[in-house]
Amino acid sequence: MLKTRICDLFDIRYPIVSAGMGGVAGAELAAAVSQAGGLGTIGLAGVSREMIQNEVAAARRLTSKPLAANLIAPFLRPGVVETMSRLPIQVVTFFWGDARQYADAVGVLRQAGIKTVWQCGSVDEARWAREAGVDAVMAQGLEAGGHVRGTVTTLALVPQVRDAIGDLPLLAAGGIADGRGLAAVLALGADGAAFGTRFVASVQSAAHRKYKERLVGAQATQTVHTTLFDIGWPDAPHRVLRTGLIDQWERAGSPPSGKRPGEGHTIARLRHGEIDAELVTYTVMPPLQYVEGDFEGMPFYAGQSCGLVNDIPSGGEIVRRIAAEAAAVIEKRLAPLAP
Ligand SMILES: Cc1cc2nc3c(=O)[nH]c(=O)nc-3n(C[C@H](O)[C@H](O)[C@H](O)COP(=O)(O)O)c2cc1C
Repeated sequence: MLKTRICDLFDIRYPIVSAGMGGVAGAELAAAVSQAGGLGTIGLAGVSREMIQNEVAAARRLTSKPLAANLIAPFLRPGVVETMSRLPIQVVTFFWGDARQYADAVGVLRQAGIKTVWQCGSVDEARWAREAGVDAVMAQGLEAGGHVRGTVTTLALVPQVRDAIGDLPLLAAGGIADGRGLAAVLALGADGAAFGTRFVASVQSAAHRKYKERLVGAQATQTVHTTLFDIGWPDAPHRVLRTGLIDQWERAGSPPSGKRPGEGHTIARLRHGEIDAELVTYTVMPPLQYVEGDFEGMPFYAGQSCGLVNDIPSGGEIVRRIAAEAAAVIEKRLAPLAP
């Protein structure tokens, strides 16, 4: 049985977490993952309190299992943490920055009986997260999809974070897409893994069909680590699939923001709930199912793990596959090695 102490902490069956992914990981995906025994995370970065309440309520209609919600610290709106503390969620995952500056938020959630996780990109950030009083740390390696906090790969970062945080529960993220990756990070000292790119290409993700299909067709060498898609979130490195716009920008000599090819052009429109927004080239917003327009100027966030993503199953099927494969790797490859 594939059970670690992160399963006890979150009251879940498998040490498998779907990453909070703004726009992409909504109620349906999170509920599907939780329903299958993982921890499903709803990506709620930057949205209003009303939308947070609606999305959590929608997920709760689909599952009574533990659920997580994700916030990006620099985009925290006033009152959001207090709203979260009153919602029927069990975990809040945070990303980006020095957790010590958010120790109050961590305290508010703890008071409400909600566990907190801080996603870190370095050993120092992991130490700061422990000081802030989080229940678990998530170490994100450079090969991750979406916004990438640090510069160290998962393989090197996870054991260093483990050494730095004592026995605090630890999740690994970045480049992990199957049971082999999960077994590997357990060996490195993690208690479970978070998967982003793998769940983008799932039935319930809110990524546009063309985004999912492009992920399935992509190889790891086609991802680019860049700060290019900065409209909405400047100076924040991220990993995306190479697209025509990136080629065009490079051919133009990689000019700085403000002087890039197609800069400021309206390329698409996003209509979802309370949001009705025009999107311009180099927007931070990926192609979602609610977006119409020209996707070439938008970020197709993807980790190097995309090379392991070859189909678009349901979120629940992904959880079951990862769990079965990790158990088989441990039993058939690792256990026989012990003397
Ligand atoms: C499409 C996409 C959107 C993401 N959005 C967020 C987000 O809103 N908040 C967050 O904490 N992490 C976000 N991430 C990063 C994930 O938390 C995680 O670190 C990453 O997906 C792990 O690497 P992997 O994609 O190789 O699994 C995003 C990742 C992807 C692929």
